[in-house]
Amino acid sequence: MHITLSLIKADIGGYVGHSESHPNVLAKADECLARAKGDGLLIDYHVTKCGDDLQLIMTHQQGEDSEKIHKLAWDTFIEGTEVAKSLKLYGAGQDLLSDAFSGNVKGMGPGVAEMEIEERVSETVIMFMADKTSAGAWNLPLYKMFADPFNTIGLVIAPNMHSGFTFEVHDVKEHKKISLNTPEEMYDLLSFIGAPSRYTVKAVYSRETGEIAAVSSTQRLALIAGRYVGKDDPVCIVRAQAQFPAVGEVMEPFTLPLLVEGWMRGSHHGPLMPVAIADSTPTRFDGPPRVTAAGFQLSGGKLIGPRDMFADKSFDAVREQANQIADYMRRHGPFEPHRLPLEEMEYTTMPELMEKLADRFVDLD
Ligand code: F6R
Ligand code: MG
Ligand code: MG
Repeated sequence: MHITLSLIKADIGGYVGHSESHPNVLAKADECLARAKGDGLLIDYHVTKCGDDLQLIMTHQQGEDSEKIHKLAWDTFIEGTEVAKSLKLYGAGQDLLSDAFSGNVKGMGPGVAEMEIEERVSETVIMFMADKTSAGAWNLPLYKMFADPFNTIGLVIAPNMHSGFTFEVHDVKEHKKISLNTPEEMYDLLSFIGAPSRYTVKAVYSRETGEIAAVSSTQRLALIAGRYVGKDDPVCIVRAQAQFPAVGEVMEPFTLPLLVEGWMRGSHHGPLMPVAIADSTPTRFDGPPRVTAAGFQLSGGKLIGPRDMFADKSFDAVREQANQIADYMRRHGPFEPHRLPLEEMEYTTMPELMEKLADRFVDLD
């Protein structure tokens, strides 16, 4: 059975500030998607949130980039924005960059991860959602899941994974893509994806079967809009078990609270903290950045779940470590590497400063 998984998200208003989503907005989204399920457009859906981002998890048979599904998501965000505006939530409608829908939400602000799959006898999927960070945040975890034998021992000892995976990498600045095979092109791959503000892992494929294993959102709102208008807090869908990494191998990379960009004013590095969905409430210095995970089994496209995958006690120590790293990074104040390099900051006073102080700069000799 061919099923398309669509995970489409947008920040359409924060409660309080940029720290959380309002229950009335989630309820409105639920109402919209329930209608679409009743009409037969969706097989199933689940509405959730990660911090201030509204997350629409949908299953259907319309394929990827379906105008009907993207319009449904867009209309849901519009209706949610009305609720957000009525409550004067913070930044209501901030990720909706256009006034009119033109067939596809890509490039219009919302983040999109979609994959069309042939549902396996038992289909395990994990939806990752992050707040206060950007698309490149998945590079290191995806590399570990699908290419690092110290993380995914299945690469070494499971015959159906032994031939490795192909990574599709996007150059978000030049709008180009390249596919690289692991293990043999591992060093080439790392040369690119180790620079996550420019190169992002868009998708991963099994080399054994050619099947899609993972897909992420690569939208960069700042680049889309040409100016800072909101965050590109990213999402990622990962299939697990059998010919793919086991659930534990998919979750394990998040035991490293990796440093990602996007904390406070989209202009700071901070540790990515894996949390239960209820705990995606980034209130300390508008962070630290969070990642949540909703796990499902699919049954004829029905979403059996979610299980809140980071609610597990075994992530307590990572959270503790992330808090310690947050303290350490914060002590740098406005200095790099806590503050992002000049060209990556989403807030900057530099153009005004350079103009104001132009006369005061003198040649060294
Ligand atoms: C938003 C974010 C926040 C804001 C900050 C300033 O996702 O990361 O840190 O950038 O709260 O927001 P404004 O400029 O809207 O007052
Ligand atoms: Mg926000
Ligand atoms: Mg957000």
